Amino acid sequence: MTKVNKSIKGAGLTASRRDFLTLSAATVLGGRIAFLSGTGIRTEGVKTEPHRERLAADPQRPRYHLMPPANWMNDPNGPIFFKGQYHMFHQYNPNGVFPESMHWGHAVSPDLVHWMHLPIALEPTPGGPDKDGCWSGCAVVDQGVPTIVYTGVFPQVQCIARSDDGMVTWRKHPGNPVIAAPPQGMETTGFRDPCVWREADEWFLAIGSGVKGQGGMVFLYRSKDLIRWDYLHLLCKGRKDELLPGNDPVSTGEMWECPDFFPLADKHALIVSTQGAVIYSVGWYVNQYFHPEVQGKADLGDSYYAPRSMVDAKGQRILWGWIREGRSDEAQRAAGWSGVMSLPRVLTLGYDGTLRMAPAPEIEALRGKHQRFERLPIVPGAFSLLKSVRGDSLEIQAEFEPGASEAMGLTVRSAPDGKEQTSITYNRTSGHLLVERERSSLSPDVDRGSQGGPFALAEDETLKLHVFLDASVIEIFANNRACLTSRIYPSRSDSLGLGMFARGDKARLRALNVWEMQPISPNRLTT
Ligand code: FRU
Repeated sequence: MTKVNKSIKGAGLTASRRDFLTLSAATVLGGRIAFLSGTGIRTEGVKTEPHRERLAADPQRPRYHLMPPANWMNDPNGPIFFKGQYHMFHQYNPNGVFPESMHWGHAVSPDLVHWMHLPIALEPTPGGPDKDGCWSGCAVVDQGVPTIVYTGVFPQVQCIARSDDGMVTWRKHPGNPVIAAPPQGMETTGFRDPCVWREADEWFLAIGSGVKGQGGMVFLYRSKDLIRWDYLHLLCKGRKDELLPGNDPVSTGEMWECPDFFPLADKHALIVSTQGAVIYSVGWYVNQYFHPEVQGKADLGDSYYAPRSMVDAKGQRILWGWIREGRSDEAQRAAGWSGVMSLPRVLTLGYDGTLRMAPAPEIEALRGKHQRFERLPIVPGAFSLLKSVRGDSLEIQAEFEPGASEAMGLTVRSAPDGKEQTSITYNRTSGHLLVERERSSLSPDVDRGSQGGPFALAEDETLKLHVFLDASVIEIFANNRACLTSRIYPSRSDSLGLGMFARGDKARLRALNVWEMQPISPNRLTT
């Protein structure tokens, strides 16, 4: 479920070519994109100097997360490692801060952390099958040729585009759409967001769908050439008894968006986005059928959505998600931007078959000034902030011994008087990990509720919180088996304090490491 109004029907806005910089910041050398020094920022969508300055000075804009210089972004699309570089695409509207007329924005990185924006990869073609938008999809390399497989709208059909210049410009297949309609005889709730992989000499394509009253579904197709596709059968199907009431099929669970299907250790994982959440299943893939065994949430909050995975240079599975905003549409429009890409998460399989998630070690390259604290008692009721630590761009690793406490955690982005503050809380009594946002901001138009979900420590386990603060973004990894992403928008410039707390009884902080994180660009435009 996307909180924002995503009624894209009827939108036909096409961006003016004038607004796009051509290859000013990158040049293609032998199929590789070479970084040029001293180049300016991409100004597409950031039309005037004051606009640019305002964005660059906006204290709510993250400094080490990837995001476009301005305007609307949502899902990550087609992340791929190609010829020594990481390419990341994303749903993007260059015309404003609203989800219409989707394009594929494009950025490239040598290391998963530092990014350079490239020209828009895909834009709607007037009169074409993607005239109302180029929706989510994936990227593969077909006999050396990078190929994007995406959904064109409206109606929802599947299209391909190829690149002959190392992924800078893309030509759409003249025979698009390559899949013109869902399988016959089914009243589908949607038909979008293809995920393509190779087995032996054939391509397989999983696509998000569902049937009213039945549940979400993933259809499986097969092809020799990415152009002619045969429908095989359902790869996987949701359960009727897990549907929620309502009319919108994405909210009820009758439509699964953005399926991502991949091998993990000796099993397979399927990730789908539905009911406002990201659900993963781990199980066996046998004879082109997926048999899920274990299910869980890839994130306990409701700010993380529509993730996509890729294999990195080391062969590890990396997941990227869209971190959506937690403030009103008006506030987003006034800010001139909306949406952030998550940090890369390394996925592995736990001994119990559940998904394990850890921040990619490459992020450590951003670590600056370090402070360490050890063996600090935490007394309930006391409000205390660490004197020497302040910041809104921090990596924090904290290990707590719960003792007899009922709850414990960190206070972040706290004003000296505590009037603004956010708690990252493990509540042992309720068995939940939470971001408590009741006092996160004095502004009226931001989300205030607690975000989180079930999380439990074993009897003798310590609580290990690994937290990334980046302006309005909080990403939390708890004992590497639960993630919680949230948004906060403190209004005071002195809401920078860090502390810890216990409730009910004492707890103890075994160790706390804090790093100031370096920005990935000289301004907040992430270029
Ligand atoms: C998920 C989603 C996808 C769709 C895209 C459109 O957030 O709704 O299903 O392809 O966004 O932007």
